[in-house]
Amino acid sequence: MTTDRPVALVTGASSGIGKETALALVVAGFNVVGTSRGTSRVTPLDGMTFLGLDVASDASVAATVQEVSERFGRIDVLINNAGVGSMWAAEETSVEQARPLFDTNVFGVMRMVNEVLPHMRAQRRGRIINISSVLGFLPQPYMAAYAASKHAIEGYTESLDHEIRDHGVRALIIEPAYTRTGFEANSAKPDTPCTRTRSSGRPSTA
Ligand SMILES: NC(=O)c1ccc[n+]([C@@H]2O[C@H](COP(=O)([O-])OP(=O)(O)OC[C@H]3O[C@@H](n4cnc5c(N)ncnc54)[C@H](OP(=O)(O)O)[C@@H]3O)[C@@H](O)[C@H]2O)c1
Repeated sequence: MTTDRPVALVTGASSGIGKETALALVVAGFNVVGTSRGTSRVTPLDGMTFLGLDVASDASVAATVQEVSERFGRIDVLINNAGVGSMWAAEETSVEQARPLFDTNVFGVMRMVNEVLPHMRAQRRGRIINISSVLGFLPQPYMAAYAASKHAIEGYTESLDHEIRDHGVRALIIEPAYTRTGFEANSAKPDTPCTRTRSSGRPSTA
C-alpha cells in the first residue's frame, strides 16, 4: 500500500518524549508508526499504529522497518527516540553494564538508520531526527556512561548528515534538557556500587 500522507516512524513511543512527539505528529497530519518492546501493555493512541520493536536487536529492527515499508510504502521521518539512562558514578559501571546502554542509545540508532536509509535514498527525501540530550555536548558527573552514549550520537549524526544530504535526506539531533518522564525510574541501578561515601552520600574514590 502507498499512502498520500507522509509517514513518521517514532521509536520508543510508549511513554515520555516519544509518546508526546508521536501525538504531535498525528496532529500535524502524519501517518504515525510508534514502537514499543511491549505493545500489549501500550494503550493504543488515536491515529497511530503501534508495532513491536527492540532497537537492540538486528532482527527486530529489520522486521519492523520492512513492515512499515510494506504497510505504508514510504518512510518520510525517522525519530530515533528510544533510549535508556544511567545515573551512577563512572566507576560503578562495569563494561558489561555499559554495553546494553550503548546497544540501545548508540547501536540502536545505527541499526535504525541502516535499515531506513535505503528507503529514504530511493525516495530521494527524508529526515532522520536523533534524540540526543544536553549531555551530548555537556559533561554530567554521575551520568558518565549515558553522557558518553549521547556524545557518540552527536558525532555520528553530524557526520551522517554530510554523507546523505546529496540524496535529499538530512539527519539532525535534538538536545533536550531535563524533562519530567519515566526516564529516571527506567534507568538501571549500578552493578558495581562503591562502598565508601563522602558526606554528600555520593560514592567516593578518595
Ligand atoms: N527525560 C529527560 O530528561 C531527557 C533529557 C534529554 C534526553 N532524553 C532522551 O529522550 C529519549 C526518551 O526518553 P524519555 O525521557 O521519554 O524516557 P522514557 O519515558 O523512559 O522513554 C524511553 C522510551 O524508550 C523505549 N526503549 C527503551 N529501550 C528500548 C529498546 N531497547 N528498544 C526499543 N525501545 C526502547 C521505551 O519503550 P518500551 O519500554 O515500551 O520499549 C520508552 O518508550 C531518550 O533517548 C532519552 O535519552 C531524555
